[in-house]
Amino acid sequence: MARSVFVFCGLLTFITLFYLCRAQQCSTSFTFNGSSVNFAKCASLPTQKAMLAWTFYENNLTLTVGFTGEAPSTSGWVGWGINPLVAGQMVGSSVLIAFTAENGSNVLPYKLTDSVQALAEPLRCSPVDIVIESTAVEIQGASMSIFAALKLPSNKTVINHIWNGGPNVKSYQPQEHGLSANDLNDHTQIIDVYTAQSFGGGSSPHHSLKRTHGILNTLAWGIILPLGAIVGRYMRQFTDSIWFYIHVPLQILGYTLGVIGWALGMRLRAVTSASHKVHQNIGIALFVLATIQVLALVLRPSKDHKIRRYWNYYHHSIGYAIVLLSIINIFEGLHILNPETKWKSGYIAILVLMAVVSVVLEVVTWVRYIRKRREDGFP
Ligand SMILES: *[C@@H]1O[C@H](CO)[C@@H](O)[C@H](O)[C@H]1NC(C)=O
Ligand SMILES: *[C@@H]1O[C@H](CO)[C@@H](O)[C@H](O)[C@H]1NC(C)=O
Ligand SMILES: *[C@@H]1O[C@H](CO)[C@@H](O)[C@H](O)[C@H]1NC(C)=O
Ligand SMILES: *[C@@H]1O[C@H](CO)[C@@H](O)[C@H](O)[C@H]1NC(C)=O
Repeated sequence: MARSVFVFCGLLTFITLFYLCRAQQCSTSFTFNGSSVNFAKCASLPTQKAMLAWTFYENNLTLTVGFTGEAPSTSGWVGWGINPLVAGQMVGSSVLIAFTAENGSNVLPYKLTDSVQALAEPLRCSPVDIVIESTAVEIQGASMSIFAALKLPSNKTVINHIWNGGPNVKSYQPQEHGLSANDLNDHTQIIDVYTAQSFGGGSSPHHSLKRTHGILNTLAWGIILPLGAIVGRYMRQFTDSIWFYIHVPLQILGYTLGVIGWALGMRLRAVTSASHKVHQNIGIALFVLATIQVLALVLRPSKDHKIRRYWNYYHHSIGYAIVLLSIINIFEGLHILNPETKWKSGYIAILVLMAVVSVVLEVVTWVRYIRKRREDGFP
């Protein structure tokens, strides 16, 4: 038993580390003009190893942006911009395009019109529909970064942004990007620069990551583990050992799913750089406490050992702490992801049900306990 639990924990740790290392990180720190520029938030974008970082200044509605993308070749271009009117569309966008020319590294403004898209007209540098206060560019091989300080058009923090890259530039005119599915899909996103939420025209990968993280963790930490605790506390008086064979598998299942959900949370933090300190710290505390509980199973002293009583105190108090912290953190998470209300109401309904069952069983337990004491001759 002990051995298989250790093997199990080792495997789980391995899977977790694998997940964490695979996470594509975004960075808030860039270098432009030989000096470093730091932004408040960042997000990795779903294609072209692209990444966006930004700071939004509420006082003057200025948005500073750092964008990095990878061109198909070192003589290619990388572009980032905003469509002020329509989400998810190239036509109508105002973009900044970075490339290397005879006179050095350039980042110039372009307007993407119908005729440019139809290839009826070359893409010429031109004034754009967004207010650009300053720009900078940094090119290292095919990896190109753009800095821009923009004045947002109105008191609106939700922007429709767009990015892409192409293989050639001729006399300051970026040539068409590739036309494969990889070059065309997932190159636009809607992002709220204030909350750092992104909505990707239905295709943002963070959405499904957030969803999976939320569902898995609610199921594991918010339902299975508390259920296991209820079994542990109340079934014991009715059965000799069956409760144990339900309690342990439930908790191991809850822990497994919980650790996977936890790893997804770490990945979410890496790809969105979102800083939710309270939620993250409770999450880390939960992971540590739950791991201690699994190890406690292995180190459990035998039933009639004199320290078993203390082991029980410790196992129960950590268990209750986990249930309490889990519920708090699920509500924290619901507050952050802000899903449709049915998710929150659904979870509250499950909690109420579990609470009612616990209260009933608690009463039953006390009644049985008092009756037994009477039978044993205590008043
Ligand atoms: C906007 O405000 C920020 C912070 O107060 C300041 O650093 C920045 O220079 C301002 N930008 C403009 C264009 O006024
Ligand atoms: C290079 O020349 C183009 C065309 O004259 C000009 O628009 C651009 O600003 C120049 N870039 C640099 C880095 O001097
Ligand atoms: C970088 O240098 C260019 C040209 O000297 C300047 O226009 C631009 O404002 C600078 N940008 C940053 C972010 O320092
Ligand atoms: C922008 O709008 C929000 C709410 O609509 C408001 O709280 C905020 O003060 C506004 N900011 C500016 C700079 O007008």
